Amino acid sequence: MIDWDKYPLPDRFRHHLSANNYFSLKELKHEPFNYPPLYENVDWKKYFADGKPPKYIDIGCGFGWFVMDYSTQVDENVLGIEVREKAVGYAESVIKSEKLENMAIFWYSVVNGLDFIEKDSIKKIFYFFPDPWFKKKHYKRRAFDIEFLKFCYEVIENGGELLLQTDIEEVQQYHLDTLAEFGKFDYRVVGLDEPWDYPTTNKEKDCIKNSYQYYRIIATKNVRG
Ligand SMILES: C[S@@+](CC[C@H](N)C(=O)[O-])C[C@H]1O[C@@H](n2cnc3c(N)ncnc32)[C@H](O)[C@@H]1O
Repeated sequence: MIDWDKYPLPDRFRHHLSANNYFSLKELKHEPFNYPPLYENVDWKKYFADGKPPKYIDIGCGFGWFVMDYSTQVDENVLGIEVREKAVGYAESVIKSEKLENMAIFWYSVVNGLDFIEKDSIKKIFYFFPDPWFKKKHYKRRAFDIEFLKFCYEVIENGGELLLQTDIEEVQQYHLDTLAEFGKFDYRVVGLDEPWDYPTTNKEKDCIKNSYQYYRIIATKNVRG
């Protein structure tokens, strides 16, 4: 585990971004200033010491505390994806200082899909505590929709998992409804008293400290026949 006290957060961190960043480039008329780059034909040698592609992805990893801790527990490569550039800069500096050779982070808006990831290759995708976007007019900023499930399903290997956590009951229900509509994953709600062999995310620590309820789902890709 990493000693996070060594890595204080950058000053004056802006939490909210231009709305454009939550829309895919193909939905926008023009490429906005400072839109996160797209990726294709990634040369994984540039990102991981063994040159192999990732086996684990954390979508919306924020400052990367969870995913960097997780990378110290597994041997295969781990990729964080985050739309806020400053958070990515922070995570990159930690990756460098801690010499995390199986860890990389992309400044990227996941609404552009996961075409740069090989199909049927990923063991686990983590999607933890997404921004809830409560107002109906902001629902479109949620990355999680049928399209999102489609591209996650494509890249996850048979038997692999999409793991979800949220502290908002309404968002949990939205995730369940969207999984039901998509129809291809086997999924179940996981109780907080059930085994969960992952580092605690910051948001989760907050919930535990304040005794807030939070919710989990594991969706598994089981290809039959
Ligand atoms: C509430 S934070 C949760 C961070 C972390 N997963 C955790 O559990 O502590 C949600 C994160 O998702 C990121 N995010 C939102 N939309 C995104 C998108 N389209 N692509 C990539 N990251 C996104 C936000 O910038 C933010 O860092």
